Amino acid sequence: MRKLYAVIGDPVEHSISPAMHTAAFRAAGIDAEYVKIRVKPEELEDAVKGIRALGMAGANITIPHKVEVMKFLDGVDSLAKDIGAVNTIVNKDGHLIGHNTDGLGALESLRKVTNTENRKITILGAGGAARAIAFTLAMEGKTEHIALLNIEPKTSEKLAQEISKKTKADVSVALSSEKELGLQLEKTDILINCTPVGMHPKTDESLVPPSLLRKGMIVFDIVYNPIRTKLIQDAEKAGCKTITGENMLVLQGAKSFELWTGKKPDVKLMHAFVNAKLQPSKEKNIVLLGFMGTGKTVSGKIIAEKLGKDFIDLDTEIEKMAGMDIPAIFERFGEKRFRELEMEAIELHSQKRDAVISCGGGAVLNFLNMLRLRETSHLFLLKASPMEIVKRLRNEKNRPLLGLEEDEKERRIIEILEARKSFYEATGAIKVDTDGLTPEQVAGEIIKIIGGKRQ
Ligand code: S3P
Repeated sequence: MRKLYAVIGDPVEHSISPAMHTAAFRAAGIDAEYVKIRVKPEELEDAVKGIRALGMAGANITIPHKVEVMKFLDGVDSLAKDIGAVNTIVNKDGHLIGHNTDGLGALESLRKVTNTENRKITILGAGGAARAIAFTLAMEGKTEHIALLNIEPKTSEKLAQEISKKTKADVSVALSSEKELGLQLEKTDILINCTPVGMHPKTDESLVPPSLLRKGMIVFDIVYNPIRTKLIQDAEKAGCKTITGENMLVLQGAKSFELWTGKKPDVKLMHAFVNAKLQPSKEKNIVLLGFMGTGKTVSGKIIAEKLGKDFIDLDTEIEKMAGMDIPAIFERFGEKRFRELEMEAIELHSQKRDAVISCGGGAVLNFLNMLRLRETSHLFLLKASPMEIVKRLRNEKNRPLLGLEEDEKERRIIEILEARKSFYEATGAIKVDTDGLTPEQVAGEIIKIIGGKRQ
């Protein structure tokens, strides 16, 4: 039976978790649905009962419920208990167990560029995220020192005391004045901003004066909206290694996924979905799908030229990747290898923005291709009648799936078209009938539809 997951919070409309987890479930072949549910604080207890009653497989918990939710669960793991907050619920045979993957996600993000062994770490902030990260680092027990800096020193003192009591980590508290921050940063290897400073709409703010950043320091900002905060930009200019906040978002999600399914998700795919959601201001691509001979490449070039966009022909990209033309790829390595290359090309180019992309006729056969393209692009399906396709592909030698004999070709076109019908339907793309139209007219039609979408 289909498994049901949700992110529960208030507000929750902005959450990117459904897109990220849905992609990961699909890629792992897990039949699951992940939705967002807004739950008011006074209804949290009933909502948790609802998770149990409905047999939901798990949930993510976000603001403002991460602390409150703990008292309604059947158990809480020790890290989440220490942190004092839960962001992940796992339904184990009707028992709801709380976990906290926020700190683990941060730790994994750090590991992408460094290890934490014998490092001196300074954490800005003492709220939920700071608690999760500080406790997770302290539990891991490898850091040389953790310094906590907060505008409200009492909160960081309390956190430092709790950490000292429960772990062996060396932890101290510093004041957040510029002088104190300067002294602290002189002895810091890794700086982590766990405050919301720099977050949209106040994107020109940062707690750290650029003069205090120095080469060699690692700077991690957990703010991901925008991805490149002022702190990250200043750090890059100063020659620091940087880690942007969406890494933590993706990797905490990946940890939740592992707790729910026991499997490691496709993190790269999750990241691509998060990036796509976080950069919506950039224009979506225009992707042309459709059977061979429907004019994707010719019409695509015209659209790109008319709209001043880049044009990407995926078949050409695949040929570049393989260092040989498409008939040679089929002949030497077979269709399976061609489809792998096609998937790689789509994975890469679907992350482009504002381009016109023409796909090979078989790109629709792989649902991952469609998942990737749909996220960043407007999809158009060029259609033509079998007879028209036969006419257009007469004397065409570059389509290995059709063979070279003209009689055989006609039979194959009808056969493949029939076999792919449901795949083309499932794309949900906007259909454009090309019978009797010139490529210019097809391009004009698509430009008109796109114009309408922008108003
Ligand atoms: C194919 C279509 C071709 C090319 C390859 C496989 C297909 O692209 O990718 O020969 O499976 O339909 P066009 O649709 O651009 O001809």
